[in-house]
This record gives sequence, structure tokens and C-alpha cells, in this order.
Amino acid sequence: MTTEETKTKKHYEILEDLPGIGPTTAQRLRELGFHTIESLATATTRELEAAGVGEKKALEVIRAARSGMELSFIRADELMRMRQNVLRLTTGSKAIDNLLEGGLETQTIIEFFGEFGSGKSQICHQLCVNVQLPPERGGLAGGALYIDTENTFRTERIVKMAEHLGLDPNETVRNIIFAEAYNSDHQIFLLDNADEIIKENNIRLIIIDSLTAHFRSEYVGRETLAERQQKINKHMHRLIRLAQAFNAVAVVTNQVMAKPDVFFGDAVHPVGGHIIAHTSHTRFYLRKASRGPVRIARLVSSPQLPEGEVAFKITVNGIEDVTEEDSSERGKR
Ligand SMILES: Nc1ncnc2c1ncn2[C@@H]1O[C@H](COP(=O)(O)OP(=O)(O)OP(=O)(O)O)[C@@H](O)[C@H]1O
Ligand SMILES: [Mg+2]
Repeated sequence: MTTEETKTKKHYEILEDLPGIGPTTAQRLRELGFHTIESLATATTRELEAAGVGEKKALEVIRAARSGMELSFIRADELMRMRQNVLRLTTGSKAIDNLLEGGLETQTIIEFFGEFGSGKSQICHQLCVNVQLPPERGGLAGGALYIDTENTFRTERIVKMAEHLGLDPNETVRNIIFAEAYNSDHQIFLLDNADEIIKENNIRLIIIDSLTAHFRSEYVGRETLAERQQKINKHMHRLIRLAQAFNAVAVVTNQVMAKPDVFFGDAVHPVGGHIIAHTSHTRFYLRKASRGPVRIARLVSSPQLPEGEVAFKITVNGIEDVTEEDSSERGKR
């Protein structure tokens, strides 16, 4: 950066600091879910126009927010620097971490899909604890936001996992912000209004468990498909922008039915289909290995990593690696 640029670089704290934003517009923007400069910097003019902000004003506001955040056109070397800000969060399983060359990346969405009981929610619980670990232990020294749609979040599990890692259970539970989404509109509303909570609580992990359950039960029939996809698509874009603005890991789950009579590849039909597949940057298919605690995680798509699959297990302590003993136990069955 030249000294000239350094001089003109403004730092904005609250919406009213932006040029041309008075208290009325700021209020309107907050009602729309834009509470922070970070979220405005990644907004579209159309979103602001929906709140009655004129197109010209919307452009001005977004530009100003971006100028404060260095989120406009950049040279690829800056992109490289942004990539260098990417941090990694451990899953608790070295095998899964290795597939990802170190863990789940910030600034992207990771989707876990699989049938009931395959471990999607247990992984989410584990990540809520792991994110609180210091970086040298694979954490991000931050909090977690958990949007639960199926009433599966259990503090008892968090306490167990925290104790196992030597963390103070009360402190660990305190650092998880929880919200139950009652229907798909409520789920969208919660995420649309999450930016301030994320900022204030140093949230580095955003979970939606499950992303698709409400949509699936509310939008039935072919004629509703387009609308459902459009809503999920917008919801996912909101999520990715939050992950980028706050250098956080975003995780979504998606239940699929396993069909034993077809080969893998056709065996699962993720709800939301292509839209989710395109927006999720990294996707894991989870399945049960046999009876018992062992599960298989298959990395099915990632922007820069090869496919692969590994085993892990779910125990009373959380997500763990499969040991040699476990493997020989499996062999005996
Ligand atoms: N305290 C525990 N000790 C050991 N294993 C546990 C414990 N709690 C849960 N599990 C294991 O985790 C499984 C449930 O996994 P999880 O809830 O993550 O599934 P899911 O993929 O989220 O399923 P769904 O699609 O129904 O939400 C249980 O079947 C059990 O095997
Ligand atoms: Mg679940």
C-alpha cells in the first residue's frame, strides 16, 4: 500500500460512521439484519434496496463499507495474503484432519451429510468445544454459534467433551451461543441477524444443524422446489459471507437416506441437491461402518484436495480416532 492510500484508508466502527448514513438509514439497515460494517461490506445493492434504500445510496454505502475493509478489487498476491489468514480447526480426529491437511478451514462452508445417527450432530458438538482450544491445540480460541433445528443440542455432551480436553466445562458452555430455529423462515431470520452476536462474542464457528430439515418438511411437492432452492441458496450465501467477514468456520449438516440397493454416488440424495453442492466448499459424506461406534468420513468434494475416506469413532468423550484395537474388534465381527 502506498502512503497516499494509507492516509485515505478510513476506519469505520458503526454504521453511522459511514458517509451519508444518518440515524434513519442506519435504523433501516439494522432492521434488515445489517448491524456491522463487515456485513454491509459483503451486501448486495438489491438487499439494501429491499429496505427502501435507493440504488445510488446503496452503492455508496457498500463502497464505503468495503473501502474500510479492503474487500474490493485486489491483486492476486493480496488474495494470497487473504488465504494466509485462513486458520484451521481440528475435528478431534487426526485422520479427518489429515484428509483436510490440518482441519476445517475458516472462510468456507463445510457440509456433513449422511443418514440418521451417522455422527453429524456429534461432530458439531465436538467442534463447538474444539474451537475454544488455543491455536497450538488445533482451536481458534473463539466461541461457537449453534443454530439447532431439530432440538438435538445437548449441554451434557459439551460438558463431557470439555472435561476430556481439560477445559473448564462451565466456561466452555458459556462460550456457545445457542438458538433454536422453529421453522425455515425463523432459521433464515436468525442467521440474517447474527452478525452482531458473532462480532461481540468472538464467534469463530457457525453451525446450522440441520440446514435442510425445515425446508424439507415445509416445501413438499415439485412445484415448491424452485422456491426452496432459491431460499437455501440465499441462506448459504449469507453464511459464507459471515464466515469470510469474521474469518470463521461455517458448518452445515444435511440428512440423506442411504439406499442399499444402489452403488455409492447414486446412493444418496442430498436435500437441496446442486445448490448446496455448489455453495459448500468442502463436503463430507458420513456413514456407519458396522454396528458400534465406528463411522466412515468420505471427503467427496473440496476445491483443492483429493477425495479420500477415513474411519473415526464416536465415544462418550466425543470424536476420536480409531485405534488398532478397534480395527481388530471390527475384523472379528
Ligand atoms: N454419549 C455418547 N457416547 C457414545 N456415543 C454416543 C453418545 N451420544 C451419541 N453417541 C453416538 O452418536 C450417534 C448419534 O449421532 P448423531 O446424533 O451425530 O447423528 P446425526 O448424523 O446427527 O443423525 P440425525 O440425522 O438423526 O440428526 C448415536 O447413535 C451414538 O452412536
Ligand atoms: Mg443430528
